[in-house]
Amino acid sequence: MSGRKVVVTGGGTGIGLATARLAVARGASVVLMGRTEATLKEAVEELGDAASYEVLDVTDGDAVEGAFASVGAFDHLVTCAAGSLAGPFAELAESDVRDFFETKFWGQYRSVKAALPRLARDGSVVLLSGFLYRKAEPGLSPFAAVNGAIEGLVKALAIEAAPVRVNALAPGQIDTLGGGEPMDEATHQAYVDSVAAGLPLGRIGTAEEAAHAALFLVENTFTTGITLDVDGGKR
Ligand SMILES: NC(=O)c1ccc[n+]([C@@H]2O[C@H](COP(=O)([O-])OP(=O)(O)OC[C@H]3O[C@@H](n4cnc5c(N)ncnc54)[C@H](OP(=O)(O)O)[C@@H]3O)[C@@H](O)[C@H]2O)c1
Repeated sequence: MSGRKVVVTGGGTGIGLATARLAVARGASVVLMGRTEATLKEAVEELGDAASYEVLDVTDGDAVEGAFASVGAFDHLVTCAAGSLAGPFAELAESDVRDFFETKFWGQYRSVKAALPRLARDGSVVLLSGFLYRKAEPGLSPFAAVNGAIEGLVKALAIEAAPVRVNALAPGQIDTLGGGEPMDEATHQAYVDSVAAGLPLGRIGTAEEAAHAALFLVENTFTTGITLDVDGGKR
């Protein structure tokens, strides 16, 4: 990773920030993208000279093109920017589901489109899917659908964008915000306990464990077109 440049959307928090930390520890430089400047600034202060940021809302196509134009040539893209939406299928408003797709699907789609002309030919893209496509749960149909779309896109892009490698990471239940709002302490503890009770590994995952898998997809030069599950054995 030494001397390579990695762009991480949603890089100010959660899995994106943990991925950026690991990339910097391995000698790369990183550009973090997200909407909240204060969060990005704090992350860059922690990461030091190897890090910089671009304030970006991935729902704005012109802004995405502008942000990647100002980055210029780079080596690896990891797209962690996403929102969240939960609720029974019958009760969710179509407009809310479309808004959710606008960030988690179209945001990743636009980022890849803007990145490809600037990516090194031996570089890579890691898109973020999630466990809910292949392991559906009630009330989470928007995630099932968006993750299926991302995993389909990965298969097609791995062929069309080659030799640039394109993979997806499908985190299981990770102790981060998952694109949503922070929970109060009691709700968070109840969630952590319920996840632990349902997993073979008996605990929720960490951002660092998901980031470790993202870095595998970035670094392994013979892996393309796959979705990698990091889910504590969720079945
Ligand atoms: N945590 C889990 O259990 C889990 C499970 C499966 C999949 N995932 C996936 O993992 C990825 C990372 O999520 P996370 O868990 O690390 O949650 P997170 O900390 O909430 O990360 C989401 C990031 O996206 C950014 N973002 C949201 N909307 C944006 C927009 N319109 N433009 C640019 N940036 C935007 C947020 O920053 P700003 O608000 O400042 O923009 C935030 O940094 C997501 O795709 C999520 O669906 C997570």
